[in-house]
Amino acid sequence: MKPIKVGLLGLGTVGTGVVRIVEGHQEDLSSQVGSPIVIERIAVQNIEKVRNISVDHNRLTENPWDVIRDPEIDVIVEVMGGVDQTKAYILEALERGKHIVTANKDLMALYGSEILAKAQEKQCDVFYEASVAGGIPIIRTLIEGFSSDRILKIMGIVNGTTNFILTKMSQEGASYSDVLQEAQELGYAESDPTSDVEGLDAARKMAILSTIGFRSNIELQDVSVRGISQVTKEDIAYAKRLGYEMKLLGIADRSDDHFSISVQPTMVRKSHPIASVNGVFNAVYVYGEAVGETMFYGAGAGEMPTATSVVADLIAVIKNLKLGVNGLKAIVPYKPKKLKNDEQ
Ligand code: HSE
Repeated sequence: MKPIKVGLLGLGTVGTGVVRIVEGHQEDLSSQVGSPIVIERIAVQNIEKVRNISVDHNRLTENPWDVIRDPEIDVIVEVMGGVDQTKAYILEALERGKHIVTANKDLMALYGSEILAKAQEKQCDVFYEASVAGGIPIIRTLIEGFSSDRILKIMGIVNGTTNFILTKMSQEGASYSDVLQEAQELGYAESDPTSDVEGLDAARKMAILSTIGFRSNIELQDVSVRGISQVTKEDIAYAKRLGYEMKLLGIADRSDDHFSISVQPTMVRKSHPIASVNGVFNAVYVYGEAVGETMFYGAGAGEMPTATSVVADLIAVIKNLKLGVNGLKAIVPYKPKKLKNDEQ
């Protein structure tokens, strides 16, 4: 059987998890798709870097274009992060007919519609499950599981780093800066953790979730954002005394055809299931007109949970390849949005 060849952009926390799963679960994965899956080339920042995974050096390159331009490669898995340069790699890969799996919420929140339109033109897949809530398959759930329903509310803890920080501040009275450093060492935080603590990472994820859930083109600037950098140990202790936990919540609401989307530190009553989502865990609550209340829970960041979503997307792309239906399931928003503060 002809192998499916994959080019990997990035071998950091998530990229390492992707190699571990693809190579460690090879027999099971290939039996699902009917072909071996080979990670043919990997673009890294520094070939000489000491890694906690052994990878043959002749697969590595410091030039991502070597991967994009390799005619043997069928699917690009992008886990390097970045926006403008990464967008150029992805658009060129699509131009060359390669399918994309990405974990890049910054890119998808800012340029998702342009990338998905290009994918549709080229009949390619672009899957991005790992861009929101790490190991929770929430994008697939909103697209497929709730295709029959009209979603009225999406609410969640979608940033693992800030939830880890708030949990430690609440449970251990730890200081903000010590916990942030711990989250960075565990590989949860972004390379610039300002995105986490100022709520921008959560805002990007809420833009993606509400675009899909509300089937409208919600943009990042439609999300009002406040992070946790001003939240003190005293605020948290005060909230606890009143029977609340402090959480950084993303809240997306629809009423009629108007939307409001925000990210902000919120006091959540302890009896609400979201109040007991602790550490790096994420949770997304979805309320649909027909289905009512649902909630999804799991690790929101970290090597193996995030890699699980990336590799599940890779399997989905390969299954589509076998069926010859790539690009037919692209999610392109089809309704102009109306925000609650727009003129009626
Ligand atoms: N920095 C992100 C978080 C990583 O903490 O949730 C996963 O998107």
